[in-house]
Amino acid sequence: MKFAPFKIENFFRQHEFSAPYGISQSDTEPLTLDELLTYASAERREQFEKLWLGYTETQGHPELRASIAAMHEGIDAGDVIEVVPEEGVFLPMNSLLSAGDHVVVMHPSFQSLWEIARATGCELSFWRQRRTEDGWHFDVDELERLIRPDTRMLIINFPHNPTGYLPSRADFERVVELARRHNLILFSDEIYRFTEHDEALRLASACELYERAIVLGGLSKCFGLPGLRVGWLITRDAGLSHELQEMKSYTTICGSAPSEILALIALDNWRALTARSIDIVRTNIGHCREFFGAYPDLFWLSYPKGGTITLAELKAEMPVGEFAEAIVAEAGVTVLPAEIMLFEGNYFRLGLGRTTLPQALAHVEPFINERFALTPRPPLPQGLRVDTAD
Ligand SMILES: Cc1ncc(COP(=O)(O)O)c(C=O)c1O
Repeated sequence: MKFAPFKIENFFRQHEFSAPYGISQSDTEPLTLDELLTYASAERREQFEKLWLGYTETQGHPELRASIAAMHEGIDAGDVIEVVPEEGVFLPMNSLLSAGDHVVVMHPSFQSLWEIARATGCELSFWRQRRTEDGWHFDVDELERLIRPDTRMLIINFPHNPTGYLPSRADFERVVELARRHNLILFSDEIYRFTEHDEALRLASACELYERAIVLGGLSKCFGLPGLRVGWLITRDAGLSHELQEMKSYTTICGSAPSEILALIALDNWRALTARSIDIVRTNIGHCREFFGAYPDLFWLSYPKGGTITLAELKAEMPVGEFAEAIVAEAGVTVLPAEIMLFEGNYFRLGLGRTTLPQALAHVEPFINERFALTPRPPLPQGLRVDTAD
């Protein structure tokens, strides 16, 4: 099996650690180890310091699996498998799909969500988004038309990377109902769950609603801990769980011992950590409304109700790929063009989770004023002003 180059990862490999600013990251501001340890109880701190650095349990630390299960209704620790988040995409696709299977997947989406199925020889149908006046929409009637008698898996991701789309509860329940009616494996990537800006908007987890769902979650995005490399798969179907664990023996085998205890500290405090993330995203949405609102002829964008990202349109003659190349070279700002996610149109991904976003936007401003011969906008009101002397 040969995978196509992973375009987003290649893009970030090139720029993430060399360009000083970015406006397209998908995570929330990562914590330092020191910061995370301030959340630790005395017992957890001791557990961390006295940790035995042997191999860990292959399904994951029992306490960690219990903490993950406790964040979901009707889920037991035995339904949880600890994984590295990206491994959590690889295992189900690789172990449960075969050449010739029909798979329905959202488009655009994180490349591995469809590329592994494509490389396996599956036939793909894309559930495509529509742009509406106030944002993005995935139409469930359209999804229904894509499902065939030979469809084996439906792959969804809400809140969605890259549009930030979060369906209504009614629409989400219809999606799950479709999976149930057609006996599909429902792979639900919920890695951006828990950052709904209003908790009332949080959807149930697919694993709570449907036995043949496999849910991917993790600490990378909404907990500010991508460097721990801790995620989880949850399924109530013992047969599916068995297949996933068989395949895990060919990938990581077991988790990293220090990361497991640090993850436990994070999950003991998950409400505080996700509140921190929501707060950062909300503040950044305020900055972006101010910033992009001053350039209505150059940008279009809508703001997500959950998650950390959205898609913004560059309303200019200049192709967004060229814009991205120029702005990173001249202003040191990384901007991810949506074409890297194989999405047509002059869009780029806007990440709302980093506390450094205002500084990055302050470097976008002179670049766009000069490039598009715009009159500099009037200074921002006190309090929103950004110091560029960094
Ligand atoms: C939708 C989605 N799923 C899975 C992942 C994988 O997470 P990680 O990069 O932490 O392995 C990502 C990362 O960007 C993602 O956006």
